[in-house]
Amino acid sequence: MSTSPSEDTVRLAALADIHYSKSTPTSLQPLFMQIAESADVLVLCGDLTDYGLAEEARLLAKDLAQVKVPIVAVLGNHDYEADEQRQIVEILGEVGVFCGGFGRGALAAWGERIIKDFVHEAVQEALKLEAALARLSAPQRIVLLHYAPIAATVKGEPAEIYPFLGSSRLEDPLSRFDVTAVFHGHAHKGTPEGQTQTGIPVYNVSYPVLKANYTDRPPFRLFEVRPREKGDVTPIAGRRLARRASDHDVEGPAA
Ligand SMILES: [Fe+2]
Ligand SMILES: [Fe+2]
Repeated sequence: MSTSPSEDTVRLAALADIHYSKSTPTSLQPLFMQIAESADVLVLCGDLTDYGLAEEARLLAKDLAQVKVPIVAVLGNHDYEADEQRQIVEILGEVGVFCGGFGRGALAAWGERIIKDFVHEAVQEALKLEAALARLSAPQRIVLLHYAPIAATVKGEPAEIYPFLGSSRLEDPLSRFDVTAVFHGHAHKGTPEGQTQTGIPVYNVSYPVLKANYTDRPPFRLFEVRPREKGDVTPIAGRRLARRASDHDVEGPAA
């Protein structure tokens, strides 16, 4: 782990939708090493694999094995595609990745489902999120989701598929528990930043979104979290958000 600028600061690197597959042309290992140099924690917001295959997870595990910072991940819809999610969690766990989350992703984005199931699924996920947040007593609550809790960060995607990209039902628990920041992926053509109605910053850290929007830097986002100060997360790279980060200057682009 590299040295943090201050003992009171944790540098968090966020990324999603890396979609590891057998046909992935190049390994992301150099990027992971770069992340390990600049951050204290790496968070991965789902779609770690492309077809949800254990062998894809093995390829990723190989690349993550050298990363010496703690890695926290949630799975995405692609990671459930082959019903090998347990093995994926196990394989990644062996190289030190902590896979949290609630099980099946909020909204089934593959194939069609009847509306009733669809809504039920979103409500259930919101309830689980709420229960998880209620168990936390910490000044900072950082939420990792695969799906978007607001529409702003999926903007750029065709409007017809918005319901498959997230659910505003996920927004209520975030506000109720005064979450500090939310990271998600899934919307590959979405928008990097938005905020909930109560001003909680929401970041779409999908790999394709970062590549398209931050062409001058490596495709991951870096944030400073001050664990002891309530509600304080500052993007180190990229535009800052009006509310939560208003007291802090952006500290230059990431390496
Ligand atoms: Fe994805
Ligand atoms: Fe996805």
